[in-house]
Formats: sequence, C-alpha cells, structure tokens
Amino acid sequence: MKILNYGSLNIDHVYQMPAFVKAGETLSATDCQLHTGGKGLNQSVALARAGACVFHGGKIGADGIELKEFLEKAGADCRFLRIDPDVPTGHAIIQVVPSGENCILIYGGTNTRITEAEIDETLSHFVAGDMLLLQNEISNVNYLIHRAHEKGMLTVLNPSPITAGLLEFDGLSLLDWMIVNQGEAEALAGTGGDLEPLDVIEALQVKYPDASIVMTLGKRGALCLSRGKKYYSRTYDYGKRVDTTGAGDTFTGYFLAGLSRGEPIGDCMDMASRASGLSITIAGAANSIPDLETVKNAVPIN
Ligand code: RIB
Repeated sequence: MKILNYGSLNIDHVYQMPAFVKAGETLSATDCQLHTGGKGLNQSVALARAGACVFHGGKIGADGIELKEFLEKAGADCRFLRIDPDVPTGHAIIQVVPSGENCILIYGGTNTRITEAEIDETLSHFVAGDMLLLQNEISNVNYLIHRAHEKGMLTVLNPSPITAGLLEFDGLSLLDWMIVNQGEAEALAGTGGDLEPLDVIEALQVKYPDASIVMTLGKRGALCLSRGKKYYSRTYDYGKRVDTTGAGDTFTGYFLAGLSRGEPIGDCMDMASRASGLSITIAGAANSIPDLETVKNAVPIN
C-alpha cells in the first residue's frame, strides 16, 4: 500500500525553559536550538523509519530546503513536495520545560498555501486502496478528505491542532481512521472534560460510527475502537523524559506503518507505543524518531 501524507513542514525553534511563560511575564531560556519538525513531516519520518512506503505532499519556501533533505534522508519520497520561493516556510516556537512537556506556537507560512489544483494533481498519482494521512496544519484539509474518499483511498486524520474550522468539516464523517489524543476526542465528540477515556472514545464512535478510532492517553497508553472491537496498549519507559515533542507523531507513523502492512491492530499499537516511548528520551521532534531496528532492540525499564 502506498501512503500519501499531505502535511506540514516546520522549522522548530526550541527553547529550554525553567517554566512555561505566563501572560505578562518575561523569562530567559536556558538553551535554544533549531530542529526539523511539523506534524506532517514528523509523521512521514516516523512512517519511513518504520519501513512504510510514504510520499510526502506539502509545500516549503526557499528557506526550507533542509526539511526536504531531512525527509529524503529518512526515506520519504518528496516528488509531491512543492517549493514557493515567495513565501516563508512554516515554523514553530516551542517551549520545553524540565518535565519534558512542551507548548507550541505555529506560524503556517507555506503550509497554508496548499491549493485545490495542487491537491488534484497530487491525488491523480494515487488509486483506490492507497492511504491518505492528514493532520490539521495545512490548508484545504476538508477538500483533501473529500477527493481522497471519492477515489476510494483509505482516509486517516490526526486532527491536530483542533480548530473551530476543523469542527465544521463535513468530511469528518467520511474518515476511515481518526488518531486523536483525549482532548481532541473530547472536542470532536462534544463531551465535557470530566469523562473517563473509554467513555470519551465511545462517545466519539457514536458520532462517527464508520471510523476506527485510536486515542492516545500520554502516560496511560492508548485505546482503539475498530469495527466493534476494543484494543489497549500500555506505555514503555526507556529512561528520562527529555522532550515529548513529536511523541504523538511517532505513535501515528508507527501505528499506520504496521496497519499498511496488514499487521494486527494490537501489534501496531504496541510498536507505536514503544517507538513513541523512545522518542521522548531525545530532544527535538523528527530527529528523535527511532528506526524500526532500534525500536525492536530497545529494552524498556518498566
Ligand atoms: O507535533 C509536534 C510538532 O508540532 C512540532 O514539530 C511543531 O512543528 C508542530 O507542528
């Protein structure tokens, strides 16, 4: 199965902070680094390092050539990655605190200049049975879902970040798979924030009965509902939590790589949990995503 991941590419400006900056406050960072990122790019890197056949669709500016080179080196096919020399590449400002948690501000840049004509041209190279993976950091996500569904492609959405616009997408009901965290699931299902994870994923399933749903739960593992069956995967601990940026992207890429090979859902979730557990022991997003051999050989401490 070919996988087209139409998604964002960002230059991540990562600041190590003693605490997250609050409104009206000025804080000094203890370190600052540039990293390769973007939820789309990270997920393509995870897919490629997990051994999947992934094509990355998207757009960068003249300042983003290194992102393309990074993707290609990871093993993703970039023939559908366009360059607009007149628009800056997307970027992110990321604060990371000593616990490894982060908060992220994104500037869309070229990610928000994806046109319907480009999408039509790119999708013409894919057929029924191929997979389309999307996040919510580029323009025309709803259009992409509709066109891919019409072609009979398997459609997968990681609705991150949740926006008011995304909640209005009529294409959500066409999705084959949703990969969400609990907050995203609550927003999509319209539940409050006081339900147990199983109640949240079941509420989301009632709203989108045709979709299979994976819900990541951070330190509590992940849940999946697919065709009436429930699956659970635990987390794996490989030592110090350095930076959680990209952990969800690592999970998504590894999970879908397994799915594209026809592996059992429980096994796909288990490998995804192992890979994301490893990714948080290294600073950065795309660069922290392990390859398949590393994941298979790593021994957790829990
Ligand atoms: O999921 C992590 C990613 O979110 C970062 O790499 C950043 O670029 C934002 O897109």
